[in-house]
Amino acid sequence: MPISLVLAVSSEQERTVVQQALSGVPLSDLSPPQLISDPDELLRITATAGPTLVLLSANFARTATPALVERLTASPSVQVIVLLPEEDFALARQFLRAGAADTVPFAQAASELPGSIANVVRRMQKVAWGAPVPSFQTGRVVIFYGPKGGVGTSLLVTNLAVALAAYQPAPVVLVDLNLQFGAVATLLSLRPEATIASLAQRFQGELDFEFLQPFLLTHEESGLKVLAAPSRPELAELVTTFLVERTLQVLRQNFAFVLVDTPTVLQDTSLVALDMAEYIFIVTALDLLAIRNTQLVLEMFRKLYPAERLKLVLNRSNVRFSGLTPEQVEEFLNLSIVAHIPSDGQLAVTSVNEGVPFVLRHPYAPISQSIFRLASLLAGEQFRAPVPVSEQPTEGALRRFVRFLLGEE
Ligand SMILES: Nc1ncnc2c1ncn2[C@@H]1O[C@H](COP(=O)(O)OP(=O)(O)O)[C@@H](O)[C@H]1O
Ligand SMILES: [Mg+2]
Repeated sequence: MPISLVLAVSSEQERTVVQQALSGVPLSDLSPPQLISDPDELLRITATAGPTLVLLSANFARTATPALVERLTASPSVQVIVLLPEEDFALARQFLRAGAADTVPFAQAASELPGSIANVVRRMQKVAWGAPVPSFQTGRVVIFYGPKGGVGTSLLVTNLAVALAAYQPAPVVLVDLNLQFGAVATLLSLRPEATIASLAQRFQGELDFEFLQPFLLTHEESGLKVLAAPSRPELAELVTTFLVERTLQVLRQNFAFVLVDTPTVLQDTSLVALDMAEYIFIVTALDLLAIRNTQLVLEMFRKLYPAERLKLVLNRSNVRFSGLTPEQVEEFLNLSIVAHIPSDGQLAVTSVNEGVPFVLRHPYAPISQSIFRLASLLAGEQFRAPVPVSEQPTEGALRRFVRFLLGEE
């Protein structure tokens, strides 16, 4: 597998130095270098690419660069060589401790960088041959269901799917089973040229991934795949429970996460999906009608499914109606809340109206952070959300020097 080469430098001058140094390197195992100018972009690209070698300037995220190295190298497929502004032993150690494979001062780039790259590439290839490729046996089907319309089910599952696709390496697909009034394509500004209804029209009882693939849309910004709902309500009836079952079976063989949005009215097509789900996220709100519907649905689901499958998500959790608290809801429903999603009318409505998920446009907003926590619950350490590098604690040179003298780094 070729290794992607990424160049993350902080000035034109640095770029020239590195590119001159690279002109002497045989790059046969590496893709042409991709230039990146922003730490978020770097995290996003390395989270979804295969094996990647990053040539990173120590100034790239200023004082937050060591923290950035730590996040990048949390993934075994990413290796980082840090370019230092000058020969600086303490700084070099700091980067090596953060997980860098090597450090090279800019002044020595021409003479040392080619050898350093060759070494790291050789090691990466050894790992690629020796270790099994991370794989999944069967993907996880995760359903979102809102027992009351308008509680935010579609908005939350769409943002969760985008977050998983953008900040986690395994492939993700989102299926819109709200067959009459599907919202996913609109929420992602996707033109549903192919939908589950067009799939149904072609379906003749046999289904494999090759057959299914042309019906999946791609959300370019995140890489998320989408099986959109029919474009008109009357087409919903083309979609049979058998088709839904086969589709989900095929998708979970090809995607690590198969997320599903469902309508409030419980239909056979939703029940098929619920039967296959590893988790059923029930979305509710601090609103008496939503709570009452949730109670009714829980009563039914508890008869059908094991308790550990049922998870409660509280949307707009900071909006209090007549004193109803999340704790009271948990007690009343006898189920703990796994995610509290705050209300943010402005971000939610803008993101809906513009068709851009808030997790991409405003990753540091509390509402996005709450979605990232949910993504971490599902994907564990594989999920790496962007951190606001400017908010990293800064450490003065003197303090760093003192810590160095004390042997702390
Ligand atoms: N956390 C939130 N903060 C503010 N508004 C929200 C939030 N979640 C959802 N909304 C609003 O609720 C509306 C309905 O959401 P939607 O996802 O379509 O609900 P459902 O799928 O449950 O019917 C959205 O258009 C959005 O404006
Ligand atoms: Mg909906």
